Amino acid sequence: MRRAKLAVFASGSGSNYEAIVEACRDGRIDADVVLLVCDKPGAKVLERAKRYGTESFAFNPKDYASREAYETVLATMLDERHVDYVCLAGYMRIVGHVLLERYEQRIVNIHPSLLPSFKGAHAIQDAVDYGVKIFGATTHFVDETLDGGRIIDQGAIVYEGNDIEELTMLIHSIEHKLYVKTINKLINKKY
Ligand code: GAR
Repeated sequence: MRRAKLAVFASGSGSNYEAIVEACRDGRIDADVVLLVCDKPGAKVLERAKRYGTESFAFNPKDYASREAYETVLATMLDERHVDYVCLAGYMRIVGHVLLERYEQRIVNIHPSLLPSFKGAHAIQDAVDYGVKIFGATTHFVDETLDGGRIIDQGAIVYEGNDIEELTMLIHSIEHKLYVKTINKLINKKY
């Protein structure tokens, strides 16, 4: 059977991208990351992609007339590389109908909260501000809403400290394991 092909979409640092690539390399995931898409030229994830030798495509959404316009370009790139699954890893942008229709049930996201609580770009801080004690991360299929779609996996920790950096690190390390588990479920169609 041919190895599955993954594309990772990211906007920032790329620690989840790196965790996925590492798992593909050491055999924990039976797939290859064939494309890294980044909507923030200059983001750190692009340096990581270069280091790992992943082809990358950086674009500025403002250079396109609409979401449909840049997603049409992205869909063609994914098709040409025979991508099976798209993994959003800190891609801070709503995915529109062009990609969702073309890759139905094949686009997943990771989010640093126990969804459906604390959607959005500041999930960890929002949960701390709310007084939450059980934190975590969620992977889910992507729909056209912010951090929406059916949940695939969740991981949780109890944290009662007040060091947001430490908490963020703990949640990131949950995410890195969770994404490996989720991608394996996708590849083996066990979700
Ligand atoms: C991750 O914590 C991811 O869950 C979050 O962005 C971070 C990216 O980190 N995504 C969202 O908040 C989506 N709403 P990374 O660039 O180090 O992988």
